[in-house]
Amino acid sequence: MNISYSHSKDDIDVVELKKIFQRVATWKMPTDIAEWEEMLKNTPLLVAAFDNGKIVGFARMLTDYVRWGEIYDVVVDKPYQGKGIGKQLILRLINHPKVKRVRTIALGTKDKTSFYEKLGFTNVNKYGGHYLILVRKERDHELE
Ligand SMILES: CC(C)(COP(=O)(O)OP(=O)(O)OC[C@H]1O[C@@H](n2cnc3c(N)ncnc32)[C@H](O)[C@@H]1OP(=O)(O)O)[C@@H](O)C(=O)NCCC(=O)NCCS
Repeated sequence: MNISYSHSKDDIDVVELKKIFQRVATWKMPTDIAEWEEMLKNTPLLVAAFDNGKIVGFARMLTDYVRWGEIYDVVVDKPYQGKGIGKQLILRLINHPKVKRVRTIALGTKDKTSFYEKLGFTNVNKYGGHYLILVRKERDHELE
């Protein structure tokens, strides 16, 4: 195993990335590759992990680079989980020089709270806060 990391969109094979999500993600993602390409194009900051050039992990941040950042779509392919790759992906997003000024970085998770707490995130729900979402269920037939 020879893991390297990159912030470059040019290094990402979108078809292979989509397959990782199909294997490990528990949330819906687009079926259409053109939509994947659009998603990546419009993502200000991403990071991917590679094993000898093959993509094995991914995470991204939507941010204004000043005040707010939100982390989405954190995945590590099954055989590579538990080896510190997910931790590196998050650290490389939150410590990226362009993100250093960002005051608040948020994320949502159903069952990986302690993974993020170990990286310095605070579970705001325990202080009475609630993370709210608006879901457009009518788009689900185009997702998987
Ligand atoms: C969650 C995920 C990204 C973690 O990546 P990973 O590479 O397996 O995690 P790491 O090996 O970097 O673990 C870092 C630390 O978090 C802990 N950790 C990892 N997965 C955890 C989990 N599911 N629950 C609690 N702690 C976890 C590890 O024990 C490790 O602790 P340590 O630093 O004390 O040794 C990965 O398991 C994954 O892709 N899961 C499926 C998709 C998913 O659920 N993504 C997150 C959506 S919010």
